[in-house]
Amino acid sequence: MTQADPSKFFDQEKAAGYDQRWAGMAAINDAQHLLLKGILSTLGPQARLLCVGAGTGAELLALAAAFPNWQFTVVEPAPGMMQVCRRNAEAQAITQRCTFHEGYLDSLPQTEPFDAATSMLVSHFLVDREQRNRYFAEIARRVRPGGLVVNSDLATDMTSAQYEQLVRHWVSLHQWVGLETKTDHLGREVALLSEDEMKSLLIESGFVSPTLTFQALLIRTWVSEVPA
Ligand SMILES: C[S@@+](CC[C@H](N)C(=O)[O-])C[C@H]1O[C@@H](n2cnc3c(N)ncnc32)[C@H](O)[C@@H]1O
Repeated sequence: MTQADPSKFFDQEKAAGYDQRWAGMAAINDAQHLLLKGILSTLGPQARLLCVGAGTGAELLALAAAFPNWQFTVVEPAPGMMQVCRRNAEAQAITQRCTFHEGYLDSLPQTEPFDAATSMLVSHFLVDREQRNRYFAEIARRVRPGGLVVNSDLATDMTSAQYEQLVRHWVSLHQWVGLETKTDHLGREVALLSEDEMKSLLIESGFVSPTLTFQALLIRTWVSEVPA
């Protein structure tokens, strides 16, 4: 089974309204970006970052503002999202530090290894485990030994006793911030893996020391390393 074309979920119209639509979740994104900045600050003032599934550029913009000498390679397959990302990067005057690749990671020309990579709210769209494994392995292959990889995904154990409550709270949060509240896509169009399954997947894909660093209801963020 292959992934549904992201440009269908993230078409021109959705891309144009994306930042506005998710503005109510800004506090969660800000917390994620604060952790990203703190954890990746160990890379030092000069670093090369790979941002996979950068969307409209949320993590790119946060990191570029905090680290004025870092260089970024931005990978995004949905043309509408990439267009907004470029516009946001221009508004923040960071385009000279960015290489934009519209497409999937496997079509990115070979480069020097990156110091770190981010994959924020992307990999859960790869519901097929093999495909998701290849996605993370491709990231691992492009990061230098000892480099860091941060991935944030929707994830939870669907068989746990708390699953129903967690989804109920997830719906309440979406209603509170004025977002669509559908849940029938969970576990179908969006993969939900337990903590153990996620850890195994990351290790199988070539990472070591996957560490769960953040959770906000269904959102979970891991930091892993590429073996030194
Ligand atoms: C929910 S958005 C998150 C965007 C951004 N990272 C953020 O946190 O705001 C997911 C993005 O991942 C992209 N995407 C989906 N599948 C992908 C894949 N296989 N490789 C790279 N990007 C993908 C989508 O086009 C979309 O822009």
